[in-house]
Amino acid sequence: MKVGIIGSGTMGIGIAQVAATADCAVFLYDANSVQTEKSLKNLKISLDKLAEKGKISAEKSLDIFSNIKPCLDLENLQDCDLVVEAIIENKEIKTELFQNLEKIVSENCILASNTSSISITSLQANLQKPERFIGIHFFNPAPILPLVEVIPGLLTNENLSAEMLELMNSWGKSPIVAKDVPGFIVNRIARPFYGEALRIVEENLATPEQVDDAMKSLGNFKMGPFELMDLIGIDINFSVTTMVYKDYFYDPKYKPSLLQQRMSEAKLLGRKSGKGFYNYSEGAEKPSPKKDENLYQQIFMRIISMLINEAVEAKRLGIASDEDIETAMQKGVNYPKGLLSWGKEIGFSKISETLQNLYTEYQEERYRQSPLLRKMN
Ligand SMILES: NC(=O)c1ccc[n+]([C@@H]2O[C@H](COP(=O)([O-])OP(=O)(O)OC[C@H]3O[C@@H](n4cnc5c(N)ncnc54)[C@H](O)[C@@H]3O)[C@@H](O)[C@H]2O)c1
Repeated sequence: MKVGIIGSGTMGIGIAQVAATADCAVFLYDANSVQTEKSLKNLKISLDKLAEKGKISAEKSLDIFSNIKPCLDLENLQDCDLVVEAIIENKEIKTELFQNLEKIVSENCILASNTSSISITSLQANLQKPERFIGIHFFNPAPILPLVEVIPGLLTNENLSAEMLELMNSWGKSPIVAKDVPGFIVNRIARPFYGEALRIVEENLATPEQVDDAMKSLGNFKMGPFELMDLIGIDINFSVTTMVYKDYFYDPKYKPSLLQQRMSEAKLLGRKSGKGFYNYSEGAEKPSPKKDENLYQQIFMRIISMLINEAVEAKRLGIASDEDIETAMQKGVNYPKGLLSWGKEIGFSKISETLQNLYTEYQEERYRQSPLLRKMN
């Protein structure tokens, strides 16, 4: 299979590696050829390391690398069966690219976008053949995280999702199908993990290290919300929340945090800037949290209840199947359990009660329950 990848940045090179590992001939194009050279150089280093560690054979490492052909011209993608776009997150620039691409590729070529936040329907609406367009959303790092969200737009051919599921499976991924809603599945359901944690700190109820410790010790999360925000980048996480909030017509459930906005403004962006909620400069010590069992229980129940409520609401709206909702959070963001089964384990009535108490206390729509959650009690 011939696969075109457009954009050779973080995601593009990762997707190229995945496709090349599955023996596809990959045609990699970026408007900035220096970026392609740089990404390929880094890929070579990491493939060599994988071979040295015995994770793949030296032969496989060479095969993967030689399956990727850097292209200086978009026209070099003319024979591709599938083109995956992973360029800058800008609707106008992506639209222009796809319109140009339509003039180059064959009628049967599938066009896909790796966008995290732009509606698939809005991207396909400006194309001559919108039915062959679909979202395939990988997670960072693409070669490592197994989840791929397959997102048909309203105009996508109804057989294309099944075709993409099959293809992603053959690439060794764990694909799910999600509706074309803001944040798709993972970025929608995960919002309270960050948002509620920020809220707890903004209200001076706990410190970031206490929230992280509570979620790790009581919930078995590999990373706490603040550690994860520092890893993702405070600015990136803030912009995803802002996008979801705006695209849901300012639903208070997704209201962004002022603290996070101020941190973005101050360029306290997390690991990449050396400081975020934690200090990453050399010799800096991570503060140890003041343990408080009662407080930890409150923090955990507040955040997990918000997350489970989101998963139940996604189920109610049919954004994905129950099974896919469970897979998404475990394989896309490494949650220790699926949220629907976690809700059952804790007891949906307890989740409902926690949210009701928050609603009574704050009198905010943010804490409203999914109508389905009440029925699951
Ligand atoms: N980084 C993530 O964690 C992540 C995760 C999932 C999805 N995404 C999505 O993937 C896409 C790419 O993100 P990224 O993090 O890899 O970005 P990036 O900035 O690392 O890379 C983008 C690349 O696109 C190139 N580019 C820009 N305009 C172009 C054009 N018109 N034609 C060809 N190349 C062009 C740039 O030169 C750059 O190399 C975005 O849509 C983003 O929302 C990102």
